[in-house]
This record gives sequence, structure tokens and C-alpha cells, in this order.
Amino acid sequence: MMQFIIFFIWLAGNVRLVLNSPTLGSKDNPRVLSKDIVCGGFEYPVHQNHSVFFYHEDSGEMYIGATDFVLKLDVEGFHIMENFSLKAPGQQHCEEGRCENVITVIEKFQDSLFVCGTNGNKPQCWKLFPSVNNQSLEIVESYEGMGISPFVYTHNVISLSVEGDLYSAAPLDTDGSSLQFRRKAGSRTNVWMYDNWISEPTFISATWVERREEPDNEKIYIFFREKNSDHNPEADPWISRVARVCKVDEGGSKRFFQNIWTSFLKARLVCGFPEKSLYFNHLRDIYVVQGEDWVDTTVYGLFTSSWNATAVCTYTIGKIEDVFENSTFKGYNKDIPNPRPGTCVKNSRNLPLTTVNMVKDYPEMTDWVQSMHQTAPFYVSSNNYTKIAVDRVRAADGRMHNILLLATDSGKIHKVLEDGAEPFIISETQLSSRSTVQSMKLDSKKRKLVVGFSEKILIIDLQRCQEYNQSCADCILARDPYCVWTELGCTPTVTGGIQNILDGNRSVCHPSDEEQKQINRTKRETGSLSTVDLRTTYSVPLGVPFYLSCPIDSYHAVYTWEHTGQGSPCLQMQSNCLHLIPAMTQENYGGYECVSKERDYTKVVKTYQLKQQTIQVTTRDTERDNNHITINYASAGVLQITLIPLTLAVTVSAIFR
Ligand SMILES: *[C@@H]1O[C@H](CO)[C@@H](O)[C@H](O)[C@H]1NC(C)=O
Ligand SMILES: *[C@@H]1O[C@H](CO)[C@@H](O)[C@H](O)[C@H]1NC(C)=O
Ligand SMILES: *[C@@H]1O[C@H](CO)[C@@H](O)[C@H](O)[C@H]1NC(C)=O
Ligand SMILES: *[C@@H]1O[C@H](CO)[C@@H](O)[C@H](O)[C@H]1NC(C)=O
Ligand SMILES: *[C@@H]1O[C@H](CO)[C@@H](O)[C@H](O)[C@H]1NC(C)=O
Ligand SMILES: *[C@@H]1O[C@H](CO)[C@@H](O)[C@H](O)[C@H]1NC(C)=O
Ligand SMILES: *[C@@H]1O[C@H](CO)[C@@H](O)[C@H](O)[C@H]1NC(C)=O
Ligand SMILES: *[C@@H]1O[C@H](CO)[C@@H](O)[C@H](O)[C@H]1NC(C)=O
Ligand SMILES: *[C@@H]1O[C@H](CO)[C@@H](O)[C@H](O)[C@H]1NC(C)=O
Repeated sequence: MMQFIIFFIWLAGNVRLVLNSPTLGSKDNPRVLSKDIVCGGFEYPVHQNHSVFFYHEDSGEMYIGATDFVLKLDVEGFHIMENFSLKAPGQQHCEEGRCENVITVIEKFQDSLFVCGTNGNKPQCWKLFPSVNNQSLEIVESYEGMGISPFVYTHNVISLSVEGDLYSAAPLDTDGSSLQFRRKAGSRTNVWMYDNWISEPTFISATWVERREEPDNEKIYIFFREKNSDHNPEADPWISRVARVCKVDEGGSKRFFQNIWTSFLKARLVCGFPEKSLYFNHLRDIYVVQGEDWVDTTVYGLFTSSWNATAVCTYTIGKIEDVFENSTFKGYNKDIPNPRPGTCVKNSRNLPLTTVNMVKDYPEMTDWVQSMHQTAPFYVSSNNYTKIAVDRVRAADGRMHNILLLATDSGKIHKVLEDGAEPFIISETQLSSRSTVQSMKLDSKKRKLVVGFSEKILIIDLQRCQEYNQSCADCILARDPYCVWTELGCTPTVTGGIQNILDGNRSVCHPSDEEQKQINRTKRETGSLSTVDLRTTYSVPLGVPFYLSCPIDSYHAVYTWEHTGQGSPCLQMQSNCLHLIPAMTQENYGGYECVSKERDYTKVVKTYQLKQQTIQVTTRDTERDNNHITINYASAGVLQITLIPLTLAVTVSAIFR
């Protein structure tokens, strides 16, 4: 009896470990926990408080900016091609404790690499260029970096390079204030914002949406959050926004609004449950997927709320433009002047005063930008996601599928399928136990994701089909558009392979070994076939505690243990499913099957046979005898997880006696 109690005390003590793994059988879980998907990386010699990535997909060049250096990486072979040192010159220029040069901006600008950093509290930019006789970088020019790089790396910064112009948002003051979005350098005039337009903003992202047919009508979209002007105590203190300016905007005339955007308009970006007035107001990250046509360009917004969860909402540029072109202006009910405020014109300096005046005083649209799934966000999760990237994957049938790659604050990456009405969480990968993801870059062509932490950089392979290679059903149920079932097993997607991304129904599979096994199982149960003995066999004495373990392949499945025609639920212990036997009795001997059921797919994961061992355990047994029994188990090949409790339980129970 004593060993029975201790056995459970030990288990209770370990229940908290279960919290690290998802609970079985819920669709809100990642389906699998991926391992071995890291295909490259390195650790920094010193932890980096901040890092920025710049990736040029066409050339395959990857640059990483951190404290006092810029690295050039080869993503394919994954090695550091160059470590370019960029230290702040001399300590006399910098304030105490802020002497380092934290790189905050890397852009491709006018054919060279444009790098800016805090430079010991004196923001500076450098144009780097591969030297002529030697491919390594060298500085060709340097500039004052105020308004492009913040003074301190923790302050807000975004940048964007468009047709040889550099757009940026960074504070002009050392305390992080005077923050706004400007065209800062390039061939076009420098233009900035009117101070009253926004209040205490945090800029998240800026993007340029091309229009092949009408380049003069192209806009730059800016995503940010700002202080809510609605001071109602019920209202959220923050509000998320999309704003836009015309690419060709050169500011107003010499007399009025010179060097100030004449095409600036902003609108509320809504993500939440409008019917319940429940919103995610805190925009955290943006990823833009360019469409064939500008109207189809899709914006993925990652939001958080004061009531704790995170959400992903999607918007199209078509719908965003609809609001800017067709909504009324908030607080304005007179006739809208012509041209309508926000219209892109070749010479913005000649715009009529009435139009510019209205942009100055009423830049906000009355209508809100609603998400594509209007009544609810596409995906709501209690995970604290901090970064998003979206890959478009062509499946075996030629159809495109979107995969969201979401980083959590606890070092995990979730791979989520966007098909249909419901998100499907394909997998979870733990990449760092310690820190949050600082930066993330997707290489869609190479199917790789580069993930930056304070201690390291990792490259992960998005196409890991070995994980679902057990059978066609396993491959199909995964609903992973990077993978198909072929005669070679579950492999990277090729046309003609078997796949069913849309609903994961395995009826597309040909009857395979796996299904044959199921058929045999059914026959065996109905007694029409004699039992084929392929089981792992253990000899266990009467009276001792024992348990069986079975690995979890899918967290969307329900696992049960079957023994003498009866099913019992499994006890989840991290990534294993256990069956506990407090003390062996005659009824406990015989065959066991660990059966998983996911949708309509039932599979026998493990089978065991327990036989009675002749050594008798009685209350008179000495400690030495108990140890001897334990050693017997070890030689029988009992899983390690069973060894520790048995040793503990049996030994401790002997002491208690
Ligand atoms: C990161 O910040 C800490 C605390 O401010 C500082 O001691 C450390 O030197 C910084 N690391 C780097 C690489 O700059
Ligand atoms: C790059 O070189 C600098 C010295 O110039 C060194 O401090 C830094 O750790 C190096 N970075 C890496 C990733 O090796
Ligand atoms: C290129 O020049 C840098 C210094 O300018 C030097 O450290 C490096 O070794 C040179 N590389 C080659 C391949 O010559
Ligand atoms: C604005 O509304 C008009 C009339 O409904 C429509 O034709 C036009 O497409 C809308 N603009 C956008 C960008 O959707
Ligand atoms: C907040 O998060 C916790 C833990 O994830 C969850 O149990 C709870 O339901 C969430 N609250 C709301 C209002 O969604
Ligand atoms: C989520 O993660 C961010 C970034 O690490 C952190 O600032 C924030 O406090 C976290 N939120 C919750 C609810 O844990
Ligand atoms: C998948 O399984 C098949 C057959 O079981 C095997 O031939 C193949 O090498 C496996 N593929 C991978 C990528 O592990
Ligand atoms: C799978 O597809 C088959 C044939 O189309 C259908 O009979 C079956 O009900 C589907 N199963 C599920 C779980 O949707
Ligand atoms: C299932 O039974 C058939 C005979 O009915 C046999 O040929 C096949 O090997 C069995 N398959 C398995 C996986 O046991």
C-alpha cells in the first residue's frame, strides 16, 4: 500500500511538467512538436541586446546588424562571410554608458548597403560598398543619422527604401520624442508630417505597393499605433492605424505646407469582434504579401489586447484604398473639395489650398478598415506572439496556400495554415528556452526562416516532411503544404503527389500498409484472425507498480490504452502517454495497445505484452532484492522514464517499512 501512495506522490510532483506540452485532443494545439528542423546557425560570442536583419532575396545576401558590427551571411551554406566592424569613434562623443554603436537600420539604398546606428548617442549612417579588388565591404560615405536611427536602440524606428528614396521614422530627440514618418534622403524632396496628425505613435511597418499601370498613383502605407483621442474611460488608451502618402508627393507650395505631406490620410485598423465591441487595439507586427494585382496585396496584422490574448487579422490593400477613396472625413460634413484630399497628383505644390487645408485639419477617415473575416479575427490565441511572417506555398495541385509563421515571446515558432475558416496549427518548434525572437526573415524560395535571438541566429527548414513519414495518412493529416505523399514517402512537394491541404481527409490515400494493419486489427478483435504477436514483452512480478509508455505523434489525436477489450484514458506526461498500474494483479497481465484516434483515423502506436515474472515481491523483501528487481527491468529494456519512479518508489517504500 505504501509503495502505491509513493508512486502517485511522485507522479503528482511531475504533473507540472505536463504544462510544457500541449494538452491532447484539442484543435487549439499545435498538431506536432517539431524537432531537428534547425539546419544552421551560430552563437554570438557576446549576447546582443538588439539585432536587425536585412535580406535581399534575389542576391541571397543576408546582413545582420548588432552592436558594433554588421555580419554578411551565406544563408545556403550558413557561414559568416564577413564581420564588418562599425564602432562609434572615440568615447568623448558619447554619454556615459551609451558609447556603443547599436545598428538599427540596414537598407539597400542607391546600389549600396545603407547602415545606420546609435553611434554613441549620435546617430550616424554609412554607405557600404564592396571594394573593387576585394569583395569585402568598405565605407564610401557617411551621413548624420538623426531621424533615421534613434539615439537609443530601445526607441522606435522603421525604414523603407523605394526607388532610390529613403523613408524613415525615428525620434529627433534623445528622449525618444519628435517621432514621425518622413522621406529623409534620395532624389525626391524631403517631406515630413504635420505635428497634429498623430499622437505618441509607435511605428510598426511601412510598405510600398506598386501599381504597374499607374506608377504615379502608388502609395506608401504606414502601420502604427497611437494614443486614442477618445478619452472615454471605456475606450482603449491605444488605437491601431493605417496611414498612406503618395509616392510622388513633394509637399505643399512655398507659401503653405512646404515639405509637408499633402496626401496624408489615416484610418483605424480594426481587429476584433465588432458585434461584442471587443477589439485588439495594440498592433505589434505587420507582414505584407504582395499580390499579382495591387488590390490583392494582403496585409497580415498581429495584435494584442488589454484582455491578454493575441490575434491575427488580414486586410487587402483594395479594401484599405476603398476606405481612403470613398469614406467621409471624420469631423467634416461640408462639401469635399476637388481634387479629393489624398489624391495623388504629379505636382503636389500646385494643389488647391482647400484640398491641402482639409488634409491638414481632417486627415482621419470616418470609416474603419475592417479585416477580411469581418466578424472575428482570423486567429485568436492565448500564445503571446511577437512576430509574424507569411509564406505562400504552391501545393501539388498548383493551388497556393498561406502559412503563417508566428514567433512567441518564449522562443517558439508556430506554423499555421491559413486555409478555410479555421486556422490549423501544423507544428510548434522550441528554438530557445530563454529569450524572445528579436528578428525573423523568411526566404520563401529556399523554404527557410532565419530567426534571431539575443544569444544566437538559427536557420530553420520549413520543409521537414520526415516528421510525417510513417504512412500516407500521417502525411495527409499533417495538412502541410510543403509536403506530399509519394512512393518515396512523405517528401517535399512535387506535382502529382498525394495531398489534401484543404481538409486533410485521408480518403485520398491508397490503402497502404497502415490501413492494412487497421483492417487486420479489426479482424483480430472480431476473432476472425489469430493474434500475430509483434509485441514488446515484459516480465513483471506480481504486486509491483508498473507503467507503459507510448510516444505522442499528434496532439490533435486522442490516445487510449486497450487491454482485454477495455479502453482506459492515457495519462499525458510531456510527449508521452502513460498507462499506470499501481500494483500488478493477475488481471493486469496480457496484451496492451496504445491506440490513437484523430478524425476518422485510428492507429495502433504501440503494443505490449506483460507476463508474470516468478520472483515474488513480498513485504519481507529486503532493499537489496528490490534493487535486484529494478535491474531486471532495466535489462528487459523498460523505457527510462519508468526506471526512475520504480527505483524511487520501490526503494522508498522499503525504507518506510
Ligand atoms: C546589453 O545591455 C547590457 C545592459 O545594459 C550591457 O551591460 C551589455 O554590454 C549590452 N550588450 C551588448 C552586446 O552591447
Ligand atoms: C565581429 O567582430 C567583432 C570585433 O570587431 C566582435 O566583437 C564580434 O563578436 C564579431 N561577431 C561575431 C558574430 O563573430
Ligand atoms: C579584403 O580587405 C580587408 C581589409 O580591407 C582584408 O581584411 C581582407 O583580408 C581582404 N580580403 C581578401 C580576400 O583579400
Ligand atoms: C469607391 O467606390 C466606388 C463606387 O462604389 C467604387 O467603384 C470604387 O471601386 C471604390 N474605390 C475603391 C478603391 O474600392
Ligand atoms: C487570458 O489568457 C489565459 C491564459 O492563456 C486564458 O486562460 C484566459 O481565458 C484569457 N482571458 C481571456 C479573456 O481571453
Ligand atoms: C508578451 O511578450 C512581450 C514581449 O516579450 C512582453 O513585453 C509582454 O509583457 C508579454 N505579454 C504577456 C501577456 O505575457
Ligand atoms: C520515408 O519512409 C520511406 C519508407 O518507409 C523511406 O524509404 C524514406 O527514406 C523515408 N523518407 C524520409 C525522408 O525519411
Ligand atoms: C472523407 O472523404 C470521404 C469521401 O469523400 C467521406 O466519405 C468521408 O466522410 C470524409 N471524412 C471526413 C472525416 O471528412
Ligand atoms: C494484414 O493481413 C494480411 C493478410 O490478411 C497480411 O498479408 C498482412 O501482412 C497483414 N499486415 C500487417 C501489417 O500485419
